[in-house]
Order: sequence, then C-alpha cells, then structure tokens
Amino acid sequence: MIIALTTGERSYTLAGYFNIQGDEKAEHPPAIIEDSEKFVRAFRKHILNVTMFVFISPFFRHYIPFIRSKSNDLIQNVRFIYNKIDSIVKRRKEEIENTPLDKPLSHDMLTSVITANTPRDINYTKTVGGEALERPLTDIEIRHIMFDGFIGGTDTTANMITFITYFLAHNPDAKKKMFEEIDRVFQGDKTRPITENDFRNLKYCEAIIKEVDRIHPVANMLARYAEEPDEIAGYKWPAGTMFHINAVSIHQNKDYWDEPEKFNPDRWLVEGFEPKKYSFIMFGGGLRICPGRKLAMIELICLMALLFRKYEIDLVDMEAPLKTKSNALTACNELLVKIKPRN
Ligand code: HEM
Repeated sequence: MIIALTTGERSYTLAGYFNIQGDEKAEHPPAIIEDSEKFVRAFRKHILNVTMFVFISPFFRHYIPFIRSKSNDLIQNVRFIYNKIDSIVKRRKEEIENTPLDKPLSHDMLTSVITANTPRDINYTKTVGGEALERPLTDIEIRHIMFDGFIGGTDTTANMITFITYFLAHNPDAKKKMFEEIDRVFQGDKTRPITENDFRNLKYCEAIIKEVDRIHPVANMLARYAEEPDEIAGYKWPAGTMFHINAVSIHQNKDYWDEPEKFNPDRWLVEGFEPKKYSFIMFGGGLRICPGRKLAMIELICLMALLFRKYEIDLVDMEAPLKTKSNALTACNELLVKIKPRN
C-alpha cells in the first residue's frame, strides 16, 4: 500500500504471498514478484537492524570481525534500496519531462516532491524579481524523502494490523462490537468502495487501533538527542545525551490510565476523553511527530473494514503468545490465523 501511495507504482508482494499459499498462482510474471519481494525484504532487514548504528560504537563496527561483517552487510542492503529508489525516481522524472505542460500528472507523493518548486508545481511558486524563491529538491533529497516514507509506512501499519487481529481474537466482546459497527456502516454490503463518510463513522475501529497500540505499541521506543546540557525530571544531563523514551511504560502508567492492563477500546469513546499530554505516544510528539499518522489511521481503519466486513479471522492457537521481535519497532514474527467468510 505504501509503495502505491508514495510512488504511484504497484508492488507485487501480495501476489508473492498468494503464490506460496496453494497450487493456484498469480498471473504476474515471477520476475516482477521476486523483484518486489526483494525490495520489501531489504526494507524489513534495514528497519529491524538499523539501530545497530545507534547502539554499537563505530570502533566495534570497524574492528570486530563479526560486527563488521554484519554492519557491511547492512550497508550493502541500504545501497540496494537507494539504487532501487533512484531508478524509480529517474523513471518518473522522464515521464514528467515527456508529459506536455498542459497535461495532468499522476497524484502521488513522488510526483509532488519531484515537481515541487518547478513550473509543474500545482501550488503557486513564490518568486522574487522573477526568480523562484525556493529551489526544487535535489535527487538525494528526493531519495531520502521517499526512503523515509517507505521506512515509516511499511512495518508500522503491517504489524499494527497483525496485533489488532491478535487482540480481537482474545477479546470477543470488542470483536462483536466491531462487527456491529461495520455491519451498521455497510449494511451488509461486502464489496462497495469505502467512502470518507464511512471512515468517519468507524469510531469503534479507531478506538480499537488506539487501544491495541496503547497496550502493545508498535513503535516501542522514541529517541531524542540533547544538543545542549539540560535539566529533566530533576536531573542534570550533559550535551550529547541520548534519551530513549519507553512507550510501553508510559502507555501503562497508572498515573495516566485507569486499569492500564485492561484492553478496553471504550475508554477512547467516553465523551470528552482526551489522554493526558504525551501519555499516548503512538505517533510520537512535538516537531518530529509522525508525518504519516493520518494516512496510517486511514489505512488501518479501511483495512479493518475491508477484512472484517467479509471475513471472520481467528487464531489457530489461542494459547500461543504473540511472537514478536523488538528493536525500536516491535514486529510480529508469525501469527497463524484461520480465515472464513462471514455469513
Ligand atoms: C501505525 C502506523 C504508524 C506508527 C505507529 C508510526 C509511528 C511513528 C513514530 C512513533 C514516529 C517517531 C515520532 C517521534 O519521534 O516523535 C514516527 C516517525 C515517522 N513516521 Fe510514522 N508511524 C506510522 C505510520 C507511518 C506512515 C504510514 C508513514 C509514511 C507515510 C510514516 C512516516 C514517518 C516518518 C517519515 C517519520 C520520521 C519523522 C521525523 O523524524 O521527522 N509513518 N512514526
């Protein structure tokens, strides 16, 4: 989804997943499926390992053979991602150049960042004495904006929908209420496109997403670096201190939450309820707050509606714990589910 939304190109990973499920195969050529899978695998590898560059000092990364080879492997991996993004950007730039000025361009983030502050910009570009005030973005800037979009938007939403499935299976009352809401909104229509109005009416789905993340945050740690000495919580901290903000502890702190261990989506629907400032940091906060937060909620709510208006999803093993691997991000290793059509 994030590749389609940001680049306007499609990815074929779902077709790859379909191919390993049975004898029936997707129609797409295996080479393009493999290409998409390689790209997404490289991202996943990057996301799950990149914190080694934060936590392990350059000395170890350069001189301890095992760590050096892991670090080199990750550098190769990120170069592969860069090359791939650069080729997508180059292709789109050529398409834009070959499109007459009076013809519309596609609506996606990549086209917007390439055309920003160029004559193709759909927004008014300020000029001073005929000169554009801002310059267009450089290729490296475009690459890294796209890279951040992919990184931010891949494993976050994907893992959230997995955790949501797990929590719903373990909380049948919440699941029943969710089905009631979805059925009320769609009136049993299992195929019509979802409208903005539907999205706004799926308040219980939204509450489920927040409650799942409160108990089991996908971004379990935020980092902040102190450029100057500071005093925080009564302690003096020197410049250069790296702070790791523990989302799990904050989300489960009794000072901020009633019965914090209880999965209770209804707490979000109490009239006038607003969590205390910074006691819910699903998307971080301040200047660096997640820029994809609205998109993420749209994706997740729509995905819940798409899945649950059609299917019943249960766990294969209700006793099995949620198998996760945590770095700054908590990712699900495996969740076996049983899916059947809803009557
Ligand atoms: C459920 C889904 C998501 C969650 C839980 C999530 C969570 C977060 C968190 C906690 C941060 C750090 C904020 C901070 O340090 O204060 C962040 C940053 C970021 N997110 Fe998301 N995110 C999600 C989806 C997305 C999507 C869909 C995109 C892309 C369109 C995205 C793009 C980014 C980017 C680019 C940053 C870095 C911002 C910066 O450092 O200035 N995220 N996200």
